[in-house]
Amino acid sequence: MLGFDDYRTLINNHLLDFIPYVDEHASTLYKSMRYSLTVGGKRLRPILLLAACDFAGGDINEAMPYACCVEYIHTYSLIHDDLPAMDNDTLRRGVPTNHMVFGEDIAILAGDALLNTAAEVFSNQILNNADCHEKMLRHAKAGNIILSRSGLRGMIAGQVADVENEYKDGTAEIVHFIDEHKCGDLITAPVIAGLHIAGANNDMIADFQAYAMDIGIGFQILDDILDFEGNSESMGKNVGKDKDLGKCNNVCIHGIGEARSMLHNLTASAKKNIERYGDEASFFFELADSLEKRRA
Ligand code: IPE
Ligand code: IPE
Ligand code: MG
Ligand code: MG
Ligand code: MG
Repeated sequence: MLGFDDYRTLINNHLLDFIPYVDEHASTLYKSMRYSLTVGGKRLRPILLLAACDFAGGDINEAMPYACCVEYIHTYSLIHDDLPAMDNDTLRRGVPTNHMVFGEDIAILAGDALLNTAAEVFSNQILNNADCHEKMLRHAKAGNIILSRSGLRGMIAGQVADVENEYKDGTAEIVHFIDEHKCGDLITAPVIAGLHIAGANNDMIADFQAYAMDIGIGFQILDDILDFEGNSESMGKNVGKDKDLGKCNNVCIHGIGEARSMLHNLTASAKKNIERYGDEASFFFELADSLEKRRA
C-alpha cells in the first residue's frame, strides 16, 4: 500500500479527469466547479477509497473515477453548505466560498453539476464494463453505495436535521443522527466502494464499514470541537459559526471534555473493528490516530 500523501498526490493529479466537456456558453460553470475542487481540501474521502481498494488487492486505477467522484460530491456538499440559506459562510479551503466569487446562482448550479457529473461517470463505468458481468457488478455496487449514502437517507438527511435543529433544545440522539448522516455516511461510502471495486468479501466490508463509521462520527465531533476552539487560518474556514447559528452539535450537547472523550473512544473502537487484520491494516490504524489529533 502507498502512504497517505501518495494517495493524495494521485488524486490531485487526476481530479479533473472526469469533468466532462463544458460548452463555452457555460464556461463559468466549469470555472466555478474547478475553483472549489482545486483550491485545497484534505481529500480524506477519496484517499479512503483508494486505500480500501488497494488494501483488498484491487486496482487503484480502476478505483480512480470513484475516488474523484466522491470528492466531487463532497465538494458540492460544501458549496451548498456554505450558501446564505444554509450556513452562510464566506471562507472555505482558505479562500472565499464559491458563492462569494461566482454568485449564489452559479454556486448552486456548480454544486448540482458536481453531483450530476458523479452520477454520469458512474453510469458510464457500468456501460464501459457491460461486456464483463462480474466487473460491471463490482462497479455498479461502488456507484450505488456512494449515491445512496450521499442522498436522502444519507448526507442530505443529516444536513436537513442539522438546519432544522438550529436554535432548538437538541438531544444526544439528534446530534448522533446528524453526525452519522451528514458526515459518517460520506466517510463509510468510499471505504465500502473501494472494497467493492476490489471484490472484497462481505466480512471484510462489514469490518471496514464499522471502522469507517467510527472515524466518520469522530471526524464530525472534532469538526465541532475545532469550530469552538480551532484556528480559522489553519482550518481555512471561519470558526465560532456553530454557536452563532445555534447549531445542535457535540459541543453544546456534550461539552468539550465529553466530546473529546467520545472521540477517543470512537478511535479505539474503529481500530478494534479491524484489529484482526494486524499489521497489514496499519495504514488504517495510523489514519484513525492522526484524525484524532488533527488541528485542521
Ligand atoms: C468538512 O469536511 C465537512 C465535514 C463533514 C466536517 P473536511 O474537513 O474533510 O473538508 P475538506 O475537504 O478538507 O475541505
Ligand atoms: C457540513 O457540516 C457537512 C456537510 C455535509 C457539508 P458543517 O457545516 O459542520 O461543515 P463545515 O464546518 O462548514 O465544514
Ligand atoms: Mg453545515
Ligand atoms: Mg458549515
Ligand atoms: Mg463544522
